[in-house]
Amino acid sequence: MCGIVGYVGPNVDEKALTVVMEGLARLEYRGYDSAGVALVTEDGIEAEKRAGKLENLRSALDAHPLDGSRTAIGHTRWATHGGPTDGNAHPHRGGQDDKLALIHNGIIENFHSLKKGLLAAGAQFQSETDTEVAAKLVGAEFDKTGDLTTAMLNVVQQLEGAFTLLAIHADQPGVVVGARRNSPLVVGLGDGENFLGSDVAAFIGYTRQALELGQDQIVTITPDGYSVMGFDGRPAEGTHYEVTWDAAAAERGGYATFMEKEINDQPHAVADTLLGRTDESGALVLDEVRISEEQLRAVDKITVVACGTAAYAGMVAKYAIEHWARIPVEVALAHEFRYADPVVDERTLVVSISQSGETMDTLMAVKHARELGAVTVSICNTHGSTIPRESDAVLYTHAGPEIAVASTKAFLAQITAAYILGLYLAQLRGGSYAEDAQAVMRDLADMPAKIQDLLGRMDRVKEMAEFMADTRSVLFLGRNVGYPVAMEGALKLKELAYIHAEGFAAGELKHGPIALIDAGQPVFVIVPSPDTPHDLHKKVVSNIQEIRARGARTLVIAHDGDEDVEPFASEVIRIPACPPMLAPLLAIVPLQVFALQLSTAKGLDVDQPRNLAKSVTVE
Ligand code: M6R
Repeated sequence: MCGIVGYVGPNVDEKALTVVMEGLARLEYRGYDSAGVALVTEDGIEAEKRAGKLENLRSALDAHPLDGSRTAIGHTRWATHGGPTDGNAHPHRGGQDDKLALIHNGIIENFHSLKKGLLAAGAQFQSETDTEVAAKLVGAEFDKTGDLTTAMLNVVQQLEGAFTLLAIHADQPGVVVGARRNSPLVVGLGDGENFLGSDVAAFIGYTRQALELGQDQIVTITPDGYSVMGFDGRPAEGTHYEVTWDAAAAERGGYATFMEKEINDQPHAVADTLLGRTDESGALVLDEVRISEEQLRAVDKITVVACGTAAYAGMVAKYAIEHWARIPVEVALAHEFRYADPVVDERTLVVSISQSGETMDTLMAVKHARELGAVTVSICNTHGSTIPRESDAVLYTHAGPEIAVASTKAFLAQITAAYILGLYLAQLRGGSYAEDAQAVMRDLADMPAKIQDLLGRMDRVKEMAEFMADTRSVLFLGRNVGYPVAMEGALKLKELAYIHAEGFAAGELKHGPIALIDAGQPVFVIVPSPDTPHDLHKKVVSNIQEIRARGARTLVIAHDGDEDVEPFASEVIRIPACPPMLAPLLAIVPLQVFALQLSTAKGLDVDQPRNLAKSVTVE
C-alpha cells in the first residue's frame, strides 16, 4: 500500500513540487519505506528519491533543489517487491534516455515473465521492483507512439495483478497519465490545475472537487482538463463528488478512526496478500527464501512463535498446516518459547508471525530458534524490519501500514499468509492435499468479496454494542478454527473497551468455565460451518443449548443458511458461507466491529487504548 500524488498546473513558485510534497506528507500513513518525486523541467525529467521517511527526501531536496515545473509526481512507498532502499524507491525510469518517470501502488503479478522478455531485449534494471518493469514498458511504448496515454494503454493490457500507475514524460510536459486496476486512484479537479492521488488526502488542501474512477480506467490530466478511457481504449466517465471531510478525516478515508478504516480495508488486505503467489507453472512461491527445498522437505515439526493477535493467527495456522501439509504444529507464545527448553533442532521449522517485525519477544524467540539449529520462516507485514531479516525465509503480508494499536487487518492478512504457507508446504512435500492447493487458492480468492459483503451487514452488531455499553463481562466460545477467533474476539474487547472478556474452546466449557454462566451473561459463540467434519457443527449447537439453558444471552455467529442455530440464539449474526478452514477470515469481523463500537459508545480512545503500544520493542 503506497501513496501516490500527481499534479499539473501553472509553473509558479515551484507549486508542483510543493503540492506533491504536501500530498506525500498526508499520504505517509500509507507507507514510509522511501519517498521520491519526479518533475518535468525544461531540461527533461528531474527526480530525487530516498529510502526512509519523507524527511530524508526533504533533506535531499534542500541540499539539491530541483528546477521549477508545472508537472510532478510523488510516491511514498510500502515495500512489497524489493527491500526499502534508495534504488528500489520510486519513481523508476524508462524509455530512450530515461525520459519517462513512473510510480506505482500495488503488485504486478506477472512481472517475472515480463522482465525476462525485457532482459532478453537488452533492458537494464536498476532495482528489484516490479514497478521498474512497467516503467521500461511504458517508456518503450512512448518511444514508438510519442503519446503517454497511448503508451499507458498499450502496457496496462499486458499487466496482471493490482496496480495504480502514474507516469510523466520529458517530451510531453503538462501531462500526467494514471491507470488503475484494483488499486485506488482519485482525480482532484482544480481551476487551471488538476491532481491525482491514492486518496483525496493527497490534494484536499487545494480542491474539494473530486472524480472517482472506475476499475480498469486510464486518466490523463492537463492544467485545463482531464479525459478518462477504459483499458479497452473506449472513452469513459468518472463520477464527480464533493469532498466534505477535513484533512485529518481524509487521511482516515473519511472514517472516524484508523481502526474503523483498517477494518474496512480488510478485503484489500486479504486480496493483496494473495497476489503474486504462483509462478508460471502454478506452483506457490514464498517472497524471500534463503533455505533449500530439501531442508523444507526434511522438516518434521513446526513451531509457531508470536504474541497477541499474531499468536491467534498462529493458532489458525496450526489447524491449516496440519490439515494440508500433515506436519505436526505447535504454537508457542514467543516469550514463553524463548525461556523454556523447547525441543527444536535442524528439522524444526520455526514460523514467526509479526505485523511490525520488531516485537522484541518474537525476535528473541527467532534468534533462539536459530541458535538451536532450526530453520526459520517469518510471516511479516513490514518490509526491511528486523524479524524477516533474521529469518531464513519470508512471506510478507500486504495489509499496508496498520496504525490503530489494536490489530485488525494484519490479523486477516496473517491468517491468509498462514494458509499460503500450509499450501506451499503441502505442494512441496507432495502430501495427499498437494493436488488441492490450487482449488483452495481459488476459494481464498473469493474471500475478499465475502468480507466486503459482511462489512455491509454490520448495523445490527453496532446496535448490539451500543445497547451493551455497560456490560462488564463477555465470553467467547469457538471450536477448531473458531477457537482462535474466540480468543481474538476477547482480546479485541479487552484492549478496546477495557471489559473482562475471555475466549474458550467450546468443548472445554463443561470442564469448568460453564460455572461462569448465569442469567444474562453475554456469550458470543462462533459456530463452524455445517460442512465441518466430525459433526463439530452439531457439537457447538449443543454447547449453545447448554449455556442458553443456564440463562446466557447467546450471540451466535453462524454461516448463511445455517438454520439449526435459530431456536437457541438470542441474536444470530450471519456470515457468508465459506469452506470451514477459511471461516476465521469472516467470523472475526463482527467481533472487531463489536469491540470498536463498544469502545466508541464508552467514549474511549479507539486508536490508542490505554497502556498499550503498537509495537512492543522491549522484553
Ligand atoms: O507487531 P506484532 O504482530 O509482532 O505484535 C504482536 C502483538 O503485540 C499485537 O498483536 C498486539 O497483541 C495487538 N495489540 C493486538 O491488537
